[in-house]
Amino acid sequence: MNDPGPVGRGELLRSARELLAGGSVLFCGPAGIGKSTLLAALAGADGGGTVLRCAPAESDRRLPFVCLIDLLADVTDDVLARLPAPLRAALEAALLRGEHPTSDQSRLGVRLAVLQVLQLLSDRAPVTLVIDDLQWVDRPSAEVLAFVARRLTGDRLRVLAAERVPDGEQPLHRNLCPPDVAELPVPPLTPRDVARLLLRDNGVLLPHGSVLQIHQLADGNPFYALELGRAVLRSGVPESPGRPLPVPRRLRALLLDRLGELSERAQATLLLASAATRPSLTLLRAAGRPDAAEDLVAAERCDLAVADDDGIVRFRHPLIRAAIYAEAP
Ligand SMILES: Nc1ncnc2c1ncn2[C@@H]1O[C@H](COP(=O)(O)OP(=O)(O)OP(=O)(O)O)[C@@H](O)[C@H]1O
Ligand SMILES: [Mg+2]
Repeated sequence: MNDPGPVGRGELLRSARELLAGGSVLFCGPAGIGKSTLLAALAGADGGGTVLRCAPAESDRRLPFVCLIDLLADVTDDVLARLPAPLRAALEAALLRGEHPTSDQSRLGVRLAVLQVLQLLSDRAPVTLVIDDLQWVDRPSAEVLAFVARRLTGDRLRVLAAERVPDGEQPLHRNLCPPDVAELPVPPLTPRDVARLLLRDNGVLLPHGSVLQIHQLADGNPFYALELGRAVLRSGVPESPGRPLPVPRRLRALLLDRLGELSERAQATLLLASAATRPSLTLLRAAGRPDAAEDLVAAERCDLAVADDDGIVRFRHPLIRAAIYAEAP
């Protein structure tokens, strides 16, 4: 069966393809917004050149050179054989095929070796490095990538990358891409696209009211929308559209993994805020939470909620609010 491709990303994919023709692209956005899906749709789509990939997991951050090992896994020995002996030795050490590089000299050797490998490859055809989850690239690999990115231009080396950043914030690792990199924030899906996503996922057309509720609660995030849609189907399509949506336990655990870092007092304050239509510090103090401001500072540190300059309490995501509310005893 033909892969129908990502829902609702036509425009973004078109701009990314154009930009990639002459440079690098860095998608950024919060968890589940669809960055990896876009990388998968783009990677190798133009057919030309050499594509090298890595997609580190969070735990890979502590493993030196693991990204480099993945990126260079498909580079054949005939390329490595063309490196000067000391550079080849340094690179093989980094790739765990020899002794691990510890001196400054050998670390420089690794950087120069990777630069030369990419130059050799790009003499044949343009090279694209596809790096998902840039934020989890281990430090030694990141240093090599930054070194290389400063020395190879867009016509020889392109990076197609994704970085997870909190909503509305900028990526911190663009230095791993050549300097002409274009940052493309991945926006929420529209209600119409969420409807298409859910239809594709479930094969069932949910009532318009439910789709709108899911879109609103997910804030257009496809991962959350899919989880909510599946939970709605599991619990039976609601007959009264106003009924609150079930927040699946798995999603609750994911969203609230940092809630436990808050004091019981701060958790109680957030719970009260989650129940209010327009939560504010004034309202919370009047409702018996005299330390509401302090509690909100702690909640902001855990990326759960924030009180703005006017004392209005805003949850980081509508689902965080719903999940906290759902945790109520
Ligand atoms: N445009 C889309 N069309 C169809 N499905 C999508 C789309 N975007 C995302 N999804 C689905 O939503 C889920 C999350 O998407 P994805 O893994 O791409 O997010 P992400 O931004 O890479 O998240 P993370 O930061 O956790 O890596 C996946 O199941 C994916 O298949
Ligand atoms: Mg991803």
